[in-house]
Amino acid sequence: MRAAVCERYGQPEVVRIREVPTPAPAGGEVLIRASATTVNSGDARVRALRVPRGMGPLVRLRFGLTKPRRGILGLEIAGRVESVGSAVTRFRPEDRVVASRGFAFGCHAEYATVSEEGAIARIPDRLSDQDAVAVLFGGETALTFLRLGKLGAGESILINGASGAVGTMAVQLAKHLGAEVTAVCSGANAELVSRLGADRVVDYATEDFTRDGRRYDVIMDNHGNAPYARVTGSLKPGGRFLMVVGDLPQMLAATWRKAVITASPSDGAFSAESYRTLMDLTERGVLTPVIDAFLPFEEIVDAHRRVDGGHKVGSLVLTFGLRTP
Ligand SMILES: NC(=O)c1ccc[n+]([C@@H]2O[C@H](COP(=O)([O-])OP(=O)(O)OC[C@H]3O[C@@H](n4cnc5c(N)ncnc54)[C@H](OP(=O)(O)O)[C@@H]3O)[C@@H](O)[C@H]2O)c1
Repeated sequence: MRAAVCERYGQPEVVRIREVPTPAPAGGEVLIRASATTVNSGDARVRALRVPRGMGPLVRLRFGLTKPRRGILGLEIAGRVESVGSAVTRFRPEDRVVASRGFAFGCHAEYATVSEEGAIARIPDRLSDQDAVAVLFGGETALTFLRLGKLGAGESILINGASGAVGTMAVQLAKHLGAEVTAVCSGANAELVSRLGADRVVDYATEDFTRDGRRYDVIMDNHGNAPYARVTGSLKPGGRFLMVVGDLPQMLAATWRKAVITASPSDGAFSAESYRTLMDLTERGVLTPVIDAFLPFEEIVDAHRRVDGGHKVGSLVLTFGLRTP
């Protein structure tokens, strides 16, 4: 099969499409033939080893000291089940699914194996594979943080970095939960986030939300330039800060600050339950997929460049062959 192999840490050009052996599903695994995947901020961070301050050594330990141990990046895949292992009972060939191997990566390839007990869900008939895969990365991150932060109906939330993969899903999920949403993004994306449901939009280039005297029940930082120390004055008493991006000192400080919420891999992202929830919300029209661009798999280096720019809108989808259905 063809796979995008990341041969070392570095610029987008370190990713090359190569022929590699097609994986075979073990007993409890399904083999998925890809129709779509995404290149997202997680892939680009590991590829470039561009991580928040203090995290570099930890990331090298986890993903590889001198180069990514698992050369094929890619967190998620949409496609059809090609074959199943002998112990698989819930999926069969030709099922349309979205799935993830989490930080084991491996989805920037024509085929990937996933445990049937892992993060895998059927794609509803009315959703295309591309739309289904586009809501996963941002959706599972936003869902996990909003759940941990216990955002409730009638509460107010400010979402910093509201127009990216995580932000566009967070705006929609927060509205669905009945919150009043303030979205912070560039002026160019103000109309988009309003359409997604934001009640108010702050253009970060012309306004500083920490200086306008408003206070929120929840503040979510998806960019890293609104750390807890900067936004404490904008939180109501009892307010929660969702630290989607944070460096090592901020992560350590979070362990003793009740108001600061971080997420660990055991908090529900990359799970079948979160994928089923996201498919259901998307099928019902609660979530609208936001897609920056569709690129053919062969243009994966350009996709990494676009993600590195830090201004993509929603998700960047790579397609294999024809669009479906
Ligand atoms: N902790 C976790 O579990 C977790 C999970 C997923 C992602 N993340 C992290 O979350 C971050 C966001 O991920 P993503 O995939 O949503 O990224 P993304 O799609 O690249 O979006 C980045 C967004 O940041 C906005 N932005 C740029 N400059 C800004 C500024 N000065 N102030 C406010 N917003 C600004 C951009 O909006 P404009 O284009 O409008 O400027 C863009 O929409 C990444 O750092 C990622 O590593 C963490």
